[in-house]
Amino acid sequence: MNQINQNRNFMKAHFKELEGIESDQMKKLPQPPLEKTPEKGKKLIELISIEKIKLKKDNLVENIKNRKSRRNFTDQPLTLEELSFLLWASQGVKKVIKRFDKAYATLRTVPSAGARHPFETYILIHNVENLDAGIYRYLAIEHKLIFLRTLKDQKEKITEATMGQEFAGKCSAVFIWSCLPYRGEWRYNIASHKAMLLDAGHICQNLYLACEAIDAGTCAIAAYNQEKVDDIIQVDGKDEYSVYLAPVGKL
Ligand SMILES: Cc1cc2nc3c(=O)[nH]c(=O)nc-3n(C[C@H](O)[C@H](O)[C@H](O)COP(=O)(O)O)c2cc1C
Repeated sequence: MNQINQNRNFMKAHFKELEGIESDQMKKLPQPPLEKTPEKGKKLIELISIEKIKLKKDNLVENIKNRKSRRNFTDQPLTLEELSFLLWASQGVKKVIKRFDKAYATLRTVPSAGARHPFETYILIHNVENLDAGIYRYLAIEHKLIFLRTLKDQKEKITEATMGQEFAGKCSAVFIWSCLPYRGEWRYNIASHKAMLLDAGHICQNLYLACEAIDAGTCAIAAYNQEKVDDIIQVDGKDEYSVYLAPVGKL
């Protein structure tokens, strides 16, 4: 019961308590980077810019009407153009804001409390044209992918890590969003955590709608094994950990 009460409390706003707290931003401590630094020596893949992408179905009202959770996909691979679009729609950077000559915030295709954007997007690629299978990360500011590593038995591993949800192994690619909580805490301290999870919902909703525009589908996944997914994306589970997943495939 104690755990339930704690979790209920977590869902509430903590901005009033924040009034008595000096955040790290107020203490003038250095701001965490807007994006994880690309690992040295890894292959970078150029993505297609949104200006060059032609959508099959670009009627917003129809896409909202048709949106639903889809868990059955064909074997057709996503194209690199389609993947580029989905990444842009869910986390694409439209502008980097500077303050005192330093990059201070990103403005993206989705909103985020205080424009903190505390997420990284990992993609487990099963079947995308011209990309090897394995784990990648989206470099949102550069609009590129970085190829991190291959993963043995990746379809079985992601199915197991999502508590046996087979569509995570039978799709083109699994979006895995990790959170780096300090990006939010630096500014909002104890009031940041609720807001960061709310932020995640916006990302996945854009992914749902973007999928409708390219004859693809997705389904949000929150029922997963924390340690196993963190292990797949190789994050420490403390300063960075997975919060949400979404397998995507063609219809
Ligand atoms: C936060 C969240 C977590 C979810 N987790 C799962 C999940 O782990 N597995 C799954 O099959 N569906 C999951 N879903 C999808 C819901 O079951 C689905 O949205 C709901 O049944 C309504 O169907 P609709 O999306 O087609 O309108 C999740 C949806 C949300 C928003």
